[in-house]
Amino acid sequence: MSANADRVASEILLYCRAGFEADLAAEIAKKAAVLGANGYPIAAPGTGFIRYILADHQPAHTLQKQLSFETLVFPRQTLVAFPPLANMDREDRISPVMALIRESGWSFEHICQDIPDTNDGKALTGLGKSIQKALESASRKCGALRRKAGKRWLHLFWTAGDQVQVAISFPGNRSEYANGIRHLRFPHDAPSRSTLKLEEAWHTFIAPDQWDVLLDENMWAADLGAAPGGWTWQLVKRGMGVYAIDNGPMQASLMNTGQVEHLREDAYSWKPPHTLDWLVCDMVDQPARVARLMGTWLENGWTRRAIFNLKLPMKQRWQEVEHCLDLLHHCVEKAGFRAHIRCRHLYHDREEVTVYVAIV
Ligand SMILES: C[S@@+](CC[C@H](N)C(=O)[O-])C[C@H]1O[C@@H](n2cnc3c(N)ncnc32)[C@H](O)[C@@H]1O
Repeated sequence: MSANADRVASEILLYCRAGFEADLAAEIAKKAAVLGANGYPIAAPGTGFIRYILADHQPAHTLQKQLSFETLVFPRQTLVAFPPLANMDREDRISPVMALIRESGWSFEHICQDIPDTNDGKALTGLGKSIQKALESASRKCGALRRKAGKRWLHLFWTAGDQVQVAISFPGNRSEYANGIRHLRFPHDAPSRSTLKLEEAWHTFIAPDQWDVLLDENMWAADLGAAPGGWTWQLVKRGMGVYAIDNGPMQASLMNTGQVEHLREDAYSWKPPHTLDWLVCDMVDQPARVARLMGTWLENGWTRRAIFNLKLPMKQRWQEVEHCLDLLHHCVEKAGFRAHIRCRHLYHDREEVTVYVAIV
């Protein structure tokens, strides 16, 4: 590693939904502090990313690894990054990037051109593409781009026509999707766009080889706050039987499948007639109230798995999420269970996060 401070990857670069920078910064600052890191976040509202800078130009590799992507809530992507390159010559954006890469000593297998998920970011889409071939060729020539390089990827994160942040991602601790976004196609016959939230949650929390085991056609689920049926639609597509709890109307074609029992009851007082395989819930209510209801279901053994959303209209979203996750852990422990709990701000989530709980 070079002695030049500008050539040390002493930052963690994290992408998020625009508007959630403060929440992501609060989460990372808290978790980095718990790990004993000496650093600070830089977050500007509406930009769709934050930087966490380690003091004294310490390399960020170890901390980024300890902040396991799977355990984080608000980031869409996490990268070890060099300080940004600014005021680049628009006629030659490749030379400064190549100089940095060469001096850093890192090698990689793939080059990703990234942009923030903002309108300003979208305007930069063509920029990365236009230099991709030349950059690949120059990187290959100096040995930085190789067939085998520990599955590391190089990321160029463009924030302006003359500004880029060079970063590296590591296998098992990154999103494999461009810009950290998993796009899903809206199924034309689903009753609401919300359907994509549950589908993305399954992709995020359930490994592909587990789908046939955990999302099986012989299963029974409850969908609390089900109408018009976007989440129920996903369960029905997997062949499950569903208790759909909501005062509102369910999509008629969904009811015609014969797999759905629609009960116009209050989700806070309804109890399942037998133990269920899945509980899902997308009600708009105070997050702590929803978390307590989920806790009650798990404590009572009414379900072994749950996926639910916590709506976050408040300012301090990270603190609220932390509070709700503490509540859940408490409920599960009180019942003498061990649980696997994950929480993620999904691409299809807006002012909400999605939680997955599995009793193990
Ligand atoms: C955001 S919508 C659910 C959308 C649904 N997940 C979908 O994909 O179509 C929230 C639903 O929760 C229902 N709801 C709110 N409070 C409820 C309660 N206490 N009991 C049952 N349903 C409730 C509302 O009637 C509303 O239909």
